[in-house]
Amino acid sequence: MVVPESQEKMYYPPDDLKRDAHVPDFNSYLALYRKSLENPEAFWKEIADEFFWKKPATGPLLQYNFDVTKGNIYVKCMEGAKTNMCYNVLDRLVREKNFGEKVAYYWEGNSPDHHMAITYSQLLSQVCRCANVLKKMGVKKGDRVSIYLPMIPELVYTMLACARIGAVHSIVFAGFSSESLCERIIDASSCVLVTADGVYRGEKLINLKQIADEALEKCREKGSSTVTKCLVIKHPALRTKSGAACNKLQTPWDSDCDVWWDEAMRDSPEECEPEWLDAEDPLFILYTSGSTGKPKGVLHTVAGYLLYTSLTFKYVFDHHHDDVYWCTADIGWITGHSYITYGPLANGATSVLFEGIPVHPHVGRFWEIIEKYKVTKFYTAPTAIRLLMQYGREPLQKYDLSSLRILGTVGEPINPEAWQWYHEVVGQGRCPVVDTFWQTETGGHVLTPLPAATPLKPGSATFPFFGVEPAILNEHGEELEGEAEGYLVFRRPWPGIMRSVYRNHERFENTYFKKFPGFYVTGDGCKRDKDGYYWITGRIDDMLNVSGHLMSTAEVEAALMKHPAVAEAAVVSRPHAVKGECLYCFVTLKHSREFNHTLQDELKRLVREKIGPIATPDFIQNAPALPKTRSGKIMRRILRQIARNEKDLGDLSTLADPKVVEELFNQRCEAAA
Ligand code: WT7
Repeated sequence: MVVPESQEKMYYPPDDLKRDAHVPDFNSYLALYRKSLENPEAFWKEIADEFFWKKPATGPLLQYNFDVTKGNIYVKCMEGAKTNMCYNVLDRLVREKNFGEKVAYYWEGNSPDHHMAITYSQLLSQVCRCANVLKKMGVKKGDRVSIYLPMIPELVYTMLACARIGAVHSIVFAGFSSESLCERIIDASSCVLVTADGVYRGEKLINLKQIADEALEKCREKGSSTVTKCLVIKHPALRTKSGAACNKLQTPWDSDCDVWWDEAMRDSPEECEPEWLDAEDPLFILYTSGSTGKPKGVLHTVAGYLLYTSLTFKYVFDHHHDDVYWCTADIGWITGHSYITYGPLANGATSVLFEGIPVHPHVGRFWEIIEKYKVTKFYTAPTAIRLLMQYGREPLQKYDLSSLRILGTVGEPINPEAWQWYHEVVGQGRCPVVDTFWQTETGGHVLTPLPAATPLKPGSATFPFFGVEPAILNEHGEELEGEAEGYLVFRRPWPGIMRSVYRNHERFENTYFKKFPGFYVTGDGCKRDKDGYYWITGRIDDMLNVSGHLMSTAEVEAALMKHPAVAEAAVVSRPHAVKGECLYCFVTLKHSREFNHTLQDELKRLVREKIGPIATPDFIQNAPALPKTRSGKIMRRILRQIARNEKDLGDLSTLADPKVVEELFNQRCEAAA
């Protein structure tokens, strides 16, 4: 590989960024990249040396088997070492680096009236107190704690408190339904649930405690009552100015189980010795959609995740001490785990922690916050960019965005129009856009530009990060060289890759390693162009990506099938101007059932209840019959084409009954249901 030069329009890093950048040019990237593959031991050792190890590693930095035909899949990083994540991201900075007075987070609530700054030493003391609260509730090393919270500082306190005492946090995005929460609590058999009384999303008040109670009730119905305590935070927006409760929500109280955060924290001591964990002890579980419909508990471990999130954060956002960094994701997703909590804190960064939504109380909310905190590095999702693009330039022109230096995107492919707008209008043509490709499973960025080093092509995640060795395979598992398109896989692990599916190692091996022995299979399609740039082309399994949230068609189908009128359901993705993709559902009704608007509404409500609002279908179409092969397999390719109104269906010879297709075209939904 040489320094890229291309016929297409490329965007070169600005000179002022190069001056003090960690990786100042493409040749430095290449040299470091080579080192990371040729001598991973030396490469990662240097990174590890920046952190605190109670006991040094006894084994090599990375040990692994990536080939199912040679035995079980495993990855181990720094075997034998003992450490603690929380100590490394807090105590180390406060004690050794004198960061106590530095702001860790500027919290900005849903309403602009709610905001606060939290320094590193304040964060440490809250985390220790919370750790003691959890201990008092009986939480021990290895126990699971489910966390169902909005984006309030207590979410960070709780996750770090778990990390401090060696408990395994399982954060469930607070937009998930009680059913989804219940499923995740049962799978993890958590002993404590942490939630809040309620939360405002925009104008809407949501009774979180009620949803949490419903989830616990459902757990009991299913014969699983592992949760013994529910720690409840009073949301700042639901207090009076003096901090007292204002009764906007009725919160039923079970005094055997429920504990108010304020009361528990009041007398909780500020000293808490961290639990010294093995490098490969679990740090957290985070559930991600699986193509069978049942979510997978992606397991990450302490040392490797620490090294990888800290290094990617430092290089991809070219972090410097005086930066103010803002990632708009929710901590309920991996982006928040890696790039709001662990990566930034490991670097001693100052971050904005934002609870609200981009359009409340006005469509300039993002820009207002960038101006207010003089944000220098800004990381968001293409869906948010497309949403805000619709309002034009005017909302941005009211604010001073001159502090911005680097922009990032994550979660889904970014279309060139959104990229251009982000670059020109938000970044005023001055800021590189780092399009970071990664997954819950990868723990951190795996394909990404480095802002001062990589010439950009809009829509390409460009090149692999250090330690990552991508390959493109064809259907037969043959590796394709040069310009090519096929399955994106990785040939070897990096420290931050997932270690297992919680309590289901077999599923881990089957999902990611079976199809092409010797490789980790991402499930994404990918193209490599003549200059060696990687372009993600989207999922090639039955998963789809709505507003940057991955979900499986199977889980939506399972929800639709719960309706008594539905005999069969098939869900496909359809392009959507803002969300990227949206859900288009075909339902076949039972005999004598009528398809009408009421039913469509019921079905939409059902999916929201079973999964959560993010999975609300946009289209529900009547399907007197579904296109099937003679062996009875639903031909999703055809359904996708019908959803998109693509008339040229190609070869239909494998269809059992071609007439079905014509009928489906007749009944297409033009407008969203
Ligand atoms: C899937 C992973 C990684 C944090 C958020 C999502 C898609 C992610 C990009 C990107 C194109 C992307 C892929 C991937 N994806 N980033 N920059 N360009 N596609 O985490 O829920 O685990 O989803 O999101 O399809 O496999 P996730």
